[in-house]
Amino acid sequence: MRRDDADRQQGPLREFAIFAHRGASGYEPENTLRSFRRAMAMGARWLELDVHAVSGALVVIHDATLERTTNGRGYVMDQSLAYLRSLDAGKGERIPFLEEVLALLGPDDGLNIELKGPATAVPLAALLAASPQGVRTTPGQLLVSSFDYGELTALRRLRPDIRIAPLVTAVPRGYARFAEEMGAYAVHGALGAATEQFIADAHERGLKFHAFTANTRKDMDMLFARGADGAFTDYPDLRPGLCP
Ligand code: G3P
Ligand code: MG
Repeated sequence: MRRDDADRQQGPLREFAIFAHRGASGYEPENTLRSFRRAMAMGARWLELDVHAVSGALVVIHDATLERTTNGRGYVMDQSLAYLRSLDAGKGERIPFLEEVLALLGPDDGLNIELKGPATAVPLAALLAASPQGVRTTPGQLLVSSFDYGELTALRRLRPDIRIAPLVTAVPRGYARFAEEMGAYAVHGALGAATEQFIADAHERGLKFHAFTANTRKDMDMLFARGADGAFTDYPDLRPGLCP
């Protein structure tokens, strides 16, 4: 029996993980502490965020450029930390450092860190090694994902105890074989890639399947019916109809 066959609850009462995508970003400015606090207040078990590396620090922002989500200009990685921290990321919020989000987590909260910018694996491993003064988060509370499989495998080499999940936007040839070969815990697939076959193949390989980004009840129900183990959503108060 595969590892997950024993774990996974079947039927309408099985667990379905809700990942608050960039926090409760349907309600608050994305990737801000305000957005993460709102998601936690809504009962989200998992937060998702995106990081870029700047001067050895990890800053929480999705785009490579500042214009869409802040009052700044230019490329995130070209800026000083002082400039980035002077900006308004919405409703007076600052661009957070990753450690500020880690500090929000209680022992039952989980965080999906998406390595968005280049060269993020090394600073993440360094940050997590900074315990106990800074980081108290346990490896079990973390799930690190990326479209950049080089960074993911670099992190895996540095910290084999931290779970990883490659992101995909289409169904790969060989389904989830690539993820199994990377030693991944889960596959994170776009809605269009969340087919029954791909999800079943991930499960047969002992992997979870989480889909992004489900912002309607219809999409949530579709994912649940196809066997997905969870979904990213901008509205963390949204649940599949059959979900407990
Ligand atoms: O991690 C799931 C999702 O966040 C990936 O896409 O562009 O929203 O970071 P994106
Ligand atoms: Mg993301």
